[in-house]
Amino acid sequence: MRFSSITLLPLLLTTTLTTATTPSKSQLANRSKKFSLGIVLFPGFEPLDVIGPFEILQSVSAYYPLSISFIASQTGPITSRSPPHVMVPGQPPVNLDHLIAVSLHATHTFATAPPLDILLIPGGMGNMVLVENNDTTIESFIQSRYKSLTHLLSVCTGSVSLARSGVLKNKRATTNKSFWNWVVQFGEGVKWVPSARWTHDGKIWTSSGVAAGMDMTYAFLSKVYGKEGVVDNVLNAIEYAPHTDPKWDPFSVVWDVPGADTKGSLKSCVKPVGF
Ligand SMILES: *[C@@H]1O[C@H](CO)[C@@H](O)[C@H](O)[C@H]1NC(C)=O
Ligand SMILES: *[C@@H]1O[C@H](CO)[C@@H](O)[C@H](O)[C@H]1NC(C)=O
Ligand SMILES: *[C@@H]1O[C@H](CO)[C@@H](O)[C@H](O)[C@H]1NC(C)=O
Repeated sequence: MRFSSITLLPLLLTTTLTTATTPSKSQLANRSKKFSLGIVLFPGFEPLDVIGPFEILQSVSAYYPLSISFIASQTGPITSRSPPHVMVPGQPPVNLDHLIAVSLHATHTFATAPPLDILLIPGGMGNMVLVENNDTTIESFIQSRYKSLTHLLSVCTGSVSLARSGVLKNKRATTNKSFWNWVVQFGEGVKWVPSARWTHDGKIWTSSGVAAGMDMTYAFLSKVYGKEGVVDNVLNAIEYAPHTDPKWDPFSVVWDVPGADTKGSLKSCVKPVGF
């Protein structure tokens, strides 16, 4: 993957110079700044919430310096299989052992994580279990790091951790549309946006469910680095055409989210092939 993007780059750069927009001074400076990126893991994280954004970030790191820490309550393998989980309130927890799962390796604990510029919190069934268990470890970590972060991102129900930590007060945020009613009970003064592929408010970026995290990552990286050249080339190299309209959200209609924009265009709007 890295190598194919590297070999593609010189080729594509020559063809896109004419259409490129000029990056800002801040974007140019960010291209040589080494950002320290952290991704939180917990048992029952949603695989694509982590791997989708990571795929794009890994490819971008071939050109712009990034470091990565995977952070969890303990180091070592963290499974995407959720612990037993209450599906219906009042009923006993449902055992999810029959689900296939993948483990990712946590490199740091919340106590040993290095200084971070960018922190990404995924969602997944497991964060419903953390809530059931009154576990606020992730929320405490967010609170302790929030001031020193330049960017805080959540995918899917990861926004629950942001809401519970208090950082979403008076901020726009969105989440997994199939779990909307569960999510919006958390946090005070959160401006939940019913129809949004992703939201961006100050240093906080939140995406809708699962695959939407990749579209948010594309928008985020385009903002931080400028999109011409590397960011668009990486999307073409991994052959992913992201949705680029943050208001594009058919899933808010599919999942009957209260206040969803039923008149919004459900047309696909994709980039950057041929950008
Ligand atoms: C969010 O949405 C997807 C798709 O409906 C689902 O698979 C996932 O488990 C959801 N829930 C949570 C809590 O992340
Ligand atoms: C979590 O807190 C609630 C409210 O205080 C309590 O009713 C519940 O038993 C707690 N759950 C666990 C697993 O400790
Ligand atoms: C460049 O990175 C800094 C953090 O170092 C951030 O505050 C700034 O917003 C970034 N520039 C853009 C255009 O996003």
